Amino acid sequence: MMSRAELLALRVPRYTSYPTAPHFHTGVGASTYEDWLRQLPARLPLSLYVHVPFCDTLCWFCGCHTKVVNTYSPVASYLELLRSELALVSAIAGNGHPVTHIHFGGGSPTLLNPRDFSDLAAHIRSSFLVERNAEFAVEIDPRGLSDEMITSLAEAGVNRVSIGVQDIDPLVQRAVNRIQPFETTRTAIEKLRAAGIANVNVDVMYGLPNQSVEHVNATIEAMLSLRPGRFAVFGYAHVPHMKRHMKLIDADTLPSTSDRIAQFDHAHRALVGAGYLPIGLDHFALPEDSMARAATSGTLSRNFQGYTTDAAPALLGIGASAIGSLPQGYVQNEPDVPRYRQLIKANKLPTARGVALTAEDKVRRQIIETLMCSLRVDLAAIASESGLAPNHFAAEIAALREFALAGFVVIDGWKLTVPDNERSAVRLVAAVFDRYLEHSTARHALAV
Ligand SMILES: C[S@@+](CC[C@H](N)C(=O)[O-])C[C@H]1O[C@@H](n2cnc3c(N)ncnc32)[C@H](O)[C@@H]1O
Ligand code: SF4
Repeated sequence: MMSRAELLALRVPRYTSYPTAPHFHTGVGASTYEDWLRQLPARLPLSLYVHVPFCDTLCWFCGCHTKVVNTYSPVASYLELLRSELALVSAIAGNGHPVTHIHFGGGSPTLLNPRDFSDLAAHIRSSFLVERNAEFAVEIDPRGLSDEMITSLAEAGVNRVSIGVQDIDPLVQRAVNRIQPFETTRTAIEKLRAAGIANVNVDVMYGLPNQSVEHVNATIEAMLSLRPGRFAVFGYAHVPHMKRHMKLIDADTLPSTSDRIAQFDHAHRALVGAGYLPIGLDHFALPEDSMARAATSGTLSRNFQGYTTDAAPALLGIGASAIGSLPQGYVQNEPDVPRYRQLIKANKLPTARGVALTAEDKVRRQIIETLMCSLRVDLAAIASESGLAPNHFAAEIAALREFALAGFVVIDGWKLTVPDNERSAVRLVAAVFDRYLEHSTARHALAV
């Protein structure tokens, strides 16, 4: 039997989708996506994800689809492509769909100049029926966030921001090429709030080079002084075979698995002590925040941006590398900007790959998403909704016995619960239901 540390050192996906992205294939392309869009029932609510794959400087830990640009011209020409894609997609799907949620991610959407951001937001509103109370969220790099941009965000109707912080210590910041004094973060949050954008999430990280429990504690304590509604506490996923720039990080300076566990435990304790509710794998929210309310009422979902209160049945991804999730399956746009440009210029949907969901995939996706969101699942209930006998999952229950002995899961008949203090292990429990994993050559990050 494997030890607890060995189990937590297993590499498993983070399950922002099921099947996971390495199982997307080119058999699902533009024509399938076009069919799926046409099949969406009229007035089905939609969510939009807009990807901006550019940054000013490269953080060496970065696992996102982004590129450093030194001039604005590639960004300006990319904006044209986004507008064309929005027009193409709304022409195919029909513009009668209400949009309940917009998310700008990256990269750094705040690298756009303020006028361009306003124009793009206006273009979205003219292409789709954006609901009056829609959530409009933007990922913010506080370094270089100008007053003009803050005004533009507020005027465009942005009502939620997610701010990259990671760690406030200069030693850690130097080791990842991201210099961001605490003052920069504080000023950004205060100014965003003063402009009326009250819903604030901060991203902090553990497992970074040179990082200790003391650094994590100091970062959480400093952020608590600003009382954001939500924290995302991400474990650094070191995957230099996929992201070559991560080789700039000296692997000898990375915390061990047991250090990572201690760092997350400290963050967890500090946040719970300060009144935040732990949510899923890595989020914490104040009880009055919409994410805490969604978690309590069982309406929390998980998508490519992580945990979300967005309940729209279809998410359309716009921009290079963006991933869409439709009732029929997943699609991903061409990640390479020049190839994305070629396709858009030829007036084609820029879909590079995807996966169509089988009936079996849908049941397993529901189990995995339920586990990732609420740390518990009733297999018999989900099986019966799909016309299956609970015994369908007998092999998984048998496979979970080892995790149960390690304390990672409590098995009660067909009900599974991951204990609150073992939430990092939820990925391991979810992975037992992943039919694709054993055939996978993809290498993922540590489970904690
Ligand atoms: C697109 S960035 C956020 C916005 C902006 N670009 C910034 O960094 O301030 C998304 C977040 O993903 C997290 N992240 C990036 N690379 C990661 C990695 N390799 N492992 C875990 N989390 C990562 C960071 O916390 C980062 O804030
Ligand atoms: S973490 Fe954010 S700012 Fe840093 S390189 Fe990645 S996307 Fe850009």
